[in-house]
Amino acid sequence: MPKFDITIAGEINLDLILYGLPAELPVEQELLANGLEVTLGSSSAITAHNLGALGSKIGFITRLGPDQLGAIALDRLRAVGVDVARITHSAESKTGLTVLLTHGGPRHILTYPGCMAEMSLAHLDLNYLKSARHFHLSSYFLHRALLPDIPGLLRELKQAGLTISLDTNDDPANRWDDGIDKVLPFVDVLMPNEREACKLGGTDDFVAAVKTLCRQVPLLVVKRGAQGATAYTKNEEVPVKAIPVDVIDPVGAGDSFNAGFLHKWVQGKPLAECIAYGNLAAACSTTKPGGTEAFRDAAYWKAFFSSHARQT
Ligand SMILES: Nc1ncnc2c1ncn2[C@@H]1O[C@H](COP(=O)(O)OP(=O)(O)O)[C@@H](O)[C@H]1O
Ligand SMILES: [Mg+2]
Repeated sequence: MPKFDITIAGEINLDLILYGLPAELPVEQELLANGLEVTLGSSSAITAHNLGALGSKIGFITRLGPDQLGAIALDRLRAVGVDVARITHSAESKTGLTVLLTHGGPRHILTYPGCMAEMSLAHLDLNYLKSARHFHLSSYFLHRALLPDIPGLLRELKQAGLTISLDTNDDPANRWDDGIDKVLPFVDVLMPNEREACKLGGTDDFVAAVKTLCRQVPLLVVKRGAQGATAYTKNEEVPVKAIPVDVIDPVGAGDSFNAGFLHKWVQGKPLAECIAYGNLAAACSTTKPGGTEAFRDAAYWKAFFSSHARQT
């Protein structure tokens, strides 16, 4: 029996969210926010946290700086039972930080990557990563030092019998290349949102992008915001509607979807059930600030899941 359900190697940082700022940000003027949240951020860590909260056994490898921000972030993972025994520490580089400025519409997102961009193959204990049924990779384009070794890493994990999921998230350089063609052959589940699916498929035409990606991976799961999510295989299309909810904060909705979906998928549940659980986790996440606050309170998320499950 593998030690973990899912292992994840990826970035960790805190999100510092300021609410109520104007969309235009003039310089040399003090602008007052009307709300502040400091919470666990970054796609890999949010996914690991929420999977841990849902009850999956998770092993997480990351790289931290010698600072308090990294220590706080790590404590959030430990609190939901995520194993962090194989993380490594950088002596010089700081842990990354994301500052989100929300205005009720489009947000400003400012990230200092810190040591997340430095994590390389040498920092990963491969036997630890292999001691799971499944491996998940998020934020592909942010792993600058690891990028050249990702195809080899995934090949080795697949040879050890793991299935693999990938959520590339955005490419800040807007190139959407960086060896992704060498990576997709090892991916069992590709999990983009609609925009990312088009970028990865190399076309603005969503239907054409889905066709292209379905030739490269056996299962494509596209997150479609308020419309929910749809899974595509070569032969079938499984759309599942979103849970109607009053959105407080969409930060981390996609990562929470990944957590809900993968929690069920590694148990071998039917696709429609996996997507519905992903939608449930994502909707729950949007009702509290950041991507993990809803899942830090077990009574809260359990009550949300039981009152909304019948809508799935
Ligand atoms: N307004 C909404 N109402 C209900 N669920 C939502 C809403 N917006 C997002 N979600 C849920 O969050 C998931 C991810 O959101 P999306 O914006 O598509 O991805 P990402 O966060 O990666 O950009 C969706 O598939 C859906 O389940
Ligand atoms: Mg996302």
